[in-house]
Amino acid sequence: MAAHPVVVAGAGQAGFDTACALRSRGFQGRITLVGDEPPGPCHRPPLSKGYLTGSVTADEVLLRPASFFAEQDIELLTGDRVASVDRDRHTVLLESGLRLPYGSLVLATGCRPRTLPVPGASLTGVLSLRGLADAEDLRLRLTGPPRQLVVVGAGFIGLEVAATARGLGHEVTVVEAQPRALARALTPVMSDRLVAEHRAQGVRLLLGREVAALHGDGGGRVHVVELDGGERIAADLVVVGIGVLPNTAPALSAGLLVGDGVVVDERLRTEDPDIYALGDCARFPGPQAGRHIRLESVQNASDQARCVAAAICGEPYAYTSVPWFWSEQYALRLQIAGLTAGHDTTVTVGDPEGGRFSVFCFRDGRLTGVESVNRPADHGIARRLLTAGTDLTPATVRQPGFDLKKLPRTAPRSAAAAGGRQSVPA
Ligand code: NAI
Repeated sequence: MAAHPVVVAGAGQAGFDTACALRSRGFQGRITLVGDEPPGPCHRPPLSKGYLTGSVTADEVLLRPASFFAEQDIELLTGDRVASVDRDRHTVLLESGLRLPYGSLVLATGCRPRTLPVPGASLTGVLSLRGLADAEDLRLRLTGPPRQLVVVGAGFIGLEVAATARGLGHEVTVVEAQPRALARALTPVMSDRLVAEHRAQGVRLLLGREVAALHGDGGGRVHVVELDGGERIAADLVVVGIGVLPNTAPALSAGLLVGDGVVVDERLRTEDPDIYALGDCARFPGPQAGRHIRLESVQNASDQARCVAAAICGEPYAYTSVPWFWSEQYALRLQIAGLTAGHDTTVTVGDPEGGRFSVFCFRDGRLTGVESVNRPADHGIARRLLTAGTDLTPATVRQPGFDLKKLPRTAPRSAAAAGGRQSVPA
């Protein structure tokens, strides 16, 4: 078994899980996990939900207490980051000046929030949300008397923060540039249902509108959001959730191929056989998509971590996990199995208005993904079907009384369905 030192750049979910998976596989060498977010690796999902309300504490957000890293002999360097990579000397240089040798280098550098490209974006009270420190800042501002919150971007961050802030009694306006919410990730049916829920809960949700400028009071604090067309919205807090950019500086310093993420092969290896990339920062060949994709999800980070650890331990395999994802807004628990972007047909089952339904997405007659709200059984079965390959057709799903739970557990598959995950065109 390989025992050369492993340096993991980035201590988010992907980096943390890689270090743990190496130890679980019995890797004996030195593992150094370098992260720039004290106090250490944390669960991001609660940061836009339970952490803001106080139902999840800072201790509960931590993936593991400090003692875990000592027990596992994982050297955790927080408050530092990999500045550059010297491939010839097999070393990385940290921002602190420390130089570390590596046998294998794992780039798990994640993403950073996009900033709003308008005047006033750096006023006090304009926040983005990525790490625990950002969430703590927002939590403190949401604790106390009602505020006038403007959320820019109706993506996952924006809508989860909007729902949480509404629940805490704040006045919330969401400004989204696209004509529909969550257009990157969801079908129009699902977008519309979530928008309807936000509006029913009292959120003012503006679609197809852009922020032109943010204006401050005399003290440099934001107090007005000006939209295109000149409309002015009073605001004492602005949360910007307009997407993220992959952190690729270490990969670029190493001369590796980068293009909206660090480009890797099906084993998550860059062009340099000793350097891997995974999680939010990696662009990998997605077998379900039939092209290179970059996914921003906990599932992708964790499953890819196991794949990278296996490769470092000399037991490589191709990464083929079916993607899945979840979000919670009010009483709606959204779960997504597979990839729904690029579908040409959708079939909705259940009761969207009542808040219990699933949207089945097909491309060229083949199931590519299922979005469910408050139908966890559909989500679980859909993941299994997408993993195994399935002949399920839109016509079958459209039949009255169709219920995924009533499908035979081992649905027969045709040769085309069995090979489908590998051959879907781009
Ligand atoms: P996102 O990509 O989900 O949504 C960004 C939204 O901002 C899009 O609707 C986009 O059209 C809009 N937008 C872009 N520029 C804009 C502008 N100038 N003005 C107004 N709207 C604009 O990204 P988001 O919400 O920032 O989330 C960041 C990351 O965090 C994503 O990877 C997301 O998946 C992840 N996340 C995951 C959660 C979960 O697991 N449930 C919860 C929250 C975030």
